[in-house]
Amino acid sequence: MGKTIEIRVGTFDNNFSIDCPTLHDNLISFGKMPILYVTMVYHVFASRSRMASKSDDITLVMGRTFTDHDLHHIPDMNVDRIYMDYNATTPLEPEVVQAVSDALRDAWGNPSSNYVAGATAKSIISQSRQSVARMVGGKSEDIVFTSGGTEANNLVLHTALEHFKKSCRAAEQSEGPTNGCPGLPHIVTTNVEHDSIKLTAEHFLADGKADVTFVPVSKVTARVDVEDIIAAIRPNTCLISVMLANNETGVIMPVQEICQRVDLLNKQPERLRILLHTDAAQALGKISVEVQELGVDYLTIVGHKFYGPRIGALYVNGPGRRTPLYPMLFGGGQERNFRPGIKLYLEERLQDVFRDRIRFNSHYPGSDVLPNTCNVSILGPALQGWRVLSTCRRLLASVGAACHSASGNRASHILLNCGVPSEVAANAVRLSVGRETARADVDAVVEDLRETVQLLEKTN
Ligand SMILES: Cc1ncc(COP(=O)(O)O)c(C=O)c1O
Repeated sequence: MGKTIEIRVGTFDNNFSIDCPTLHDNLISFGKMPILYVTMVYHVFASRSRMASKSDDITLVMGRTFTDHDLHHIPDMNVDRIYMDYNATTPLEPEVVQAVSDALRDAWGNPSSNYVAGATAKSIISQSRQSVARMVGGKSEDIVFTSGGTEANNLVLHTALEHFKKSCRAAEQSEGPTNGCPGLPHIVTTNVEHDSIKLTAEHFLADGKADVTFVPVSKVTARVDVEDIIAAIRPNTCLISVMLANNETGVIMPVQEICQRVDLLNKQPERLRILLHTDAAQALGKISVEVQELGVDYLTIVGHKFYGPRIGALYVNGPGRRTPLYPMLFGGGQERNFRPGIKLYLEERLQDVFRDRIRFNSHYPGSDVLPNTCNVSILGPALQGWRVLSTCRRLLASVGAACHSASGNRASHILLNCGVPSEVAANAVRLSVGRETARADVDAVVEDLRETVQLLEKTN
């Protein structure tokens, strides 16, 4: 414990790396959570050597067939696949596999039980909580483990509604600010959030439970403008939720600036407190994430995006004391980097091969982007992203957010909202490199794409 890990991708020499003193411990500690998800079994197998070569062999490994899975790729078992979908999920670090197995074997007790097996589980959870807190610069008691990012995001939106209700009740009894009451709670978010925010907010809206403003991101920078967020605030606004980095474009949002501005508003005595949330699922492990610096009340953490298992956590700044947190579930009583060199090399190689036929949907003037995310369209009438991916022999990637893969032949609303023209968005492919991506992988993927484009243009 306390080791420093150099987060690097492949063996490319001209590299850039981040010494991340806490990530290593954190993902291992995440692994020590004595919670078993079926999907973890997939990751344990898939990560044994290289996820690329194992992921399509899963039927062989597990001796079963996934008949209901809409495969985008030709199931040629003799081909060595190259994984460039690290924004969808990451393979488990071998040390995590070890820690998970150890915990499953030795810490199987219910952490609330008053005997040794329970105490062992409790102690491991407590260590895990400390490590995850260190990773984001919070305190141990600020970390609430969840089943994943989706639950963490839902918990924040649910809490915002409860916070509004309780604040209004207190106001009726003249105990608090009356601003915004009576009325519906109002939530401000963007039009490029993950579905676990978007669909939940849309559901609240449709059910008449809340008003929601989906502030559009700039079609030039793909970032949300701080002034647009501030302009959307109403007297009944109870939550602002803006993701830290977008899962499709990799664009980093001005969360710190938003928090600073809202902090000033929150100091007005008659104002209903506006809660501040950021979904950092894609940012953690790729850029520095520090809750105090950002100034957020809540921050979503997703283990499987940084080589940990499928488990999530929500950072809450003083849960139940400084920041409200209301449960959604009742009964159980439990729980409360990289080398941008590789991404740049990938973009250079794509540009060399496809020249003026290529559009990068992750390049926006004035916006910083995650160091691993390359969203690209190869222009042409027969080159829709889903078609390209299903014809590629080696590349494993997505057309966008992994949870949209079922609607694969529709252009991503995120890209459309970022100003990407529909015929370009329809051809988009999200290539997200990771720790195991090497320069040779990039060369092979670019060649794969070149052959694919040739084939599709000949046959269509
Ligand atoms: C930005 C973002 N938020 C939330 C999630 C959901 O996380 P989980 O898969 O753990 O529910 C994801 C996963 O793709 C994501 O990219």
